[in-house]
Amino acid sequence: MPVTDGHFYEGSSLELQGLTMAYGDIEVLKDVSLTVAPGTTTCIIGPSGSGKSTLLRGVNRLHEPKSGSVRLADDDALALKPDVLRRRIGLVFQHFNLFPDHTALDNVALALRNVKGMSKKEAARVAAARLDEVGLAERADHRPRDLSGGQQQRVAIARALAMDPEVMMFDEATSALDPELVKGVLNLMANLAQRGMTMLVVTHEMGFARKVADQVVFMDEGRVVEAGTPDQIFDHPESPRLRRFLSEVL
Ligand SMILES: Nc1ncnc2c1ncn2[C@@H]1O[C@H](COP(=O)(O)OP(=O)(O)O)[C@@H](O)[C@H]1O
Ligand SMILES: [Mg+2]
Repeated sequence: MPVTDGHFYEGSSLELQGLTMAYGDIEVLKDVSLTVAPGTTTCIIGPSGSGKSTLLRGVNRLHEPKSGSVRLADDDALALKPDVLRRRIGLVFQHFNLFPDHTALDNVALALRNVKGMSKKEAARVAAARLDEVGLAERADHRPRDLSGGQQQRVAIARALAMDPEVMMFDEATSALDPELVKGVLNLMANLAQRGMTMLVVTHEMGFARKVADQVVFMDEGRVVEAGTPDQIFDHPESPRLRRFLSEVL
């Protein structure tokens, strides 16, 4: 299980204003505004195709927004170099994209050497500490195929944490996992939230959103339909569209 002692994060604020994104001529994100305060967790929920992944891709500039603004702490994220931005905002996907022929330790250490320019020895030291942080100290020498899906996802999270990000984003990080492995990864995510990381989490795990989120954002058809506390969103939904969504997923 993840360690809970010691390490605290200093998450930054993330603020989206009027974000609009398109693929070709088709607008899939329309005038989205949301603020994630430092050290808080926002969960984004909504039906498939509502633009959740596109939003995360826009924040990280994997797909450039058409208009609107993204601010990370005091910086205009759309004016930063994309590789600098991606060091400051970690993104964890459903599929972990680990190097299959490298150990867990090397997967994390390689990122440190490539991105942070660390020496081999320093990268190995930091990578070991990061794996310990996600509860995988004993698995450092295992290759991905010798790890469970949940452990592989925790390696991917350790790799993202190794960049010392100010914000962590998760895109359905547990959707590809066998049911019995989901909890370990969700616990780790909750643990990061408790320790001050700023988190933007796209998830179908309504129990997680209810328990961990400071704010829940419901999206449909590229727009934010409703946003509020878990209590507001899950127990007192206002829009018919959200009520219908909840009746289908809860
Ligand atoms: N690379 C792409 N090219 C064209 N259309 C895309 C692409 N990725 C996503 N879309 C479309 O954009 C819309 C939003 O998709 P997405 O952000 O993946 O939604 P979600 O993550 O909520 O399921 C969908 O209509 C989807 O078909
Ligand atoms: Mg998606």
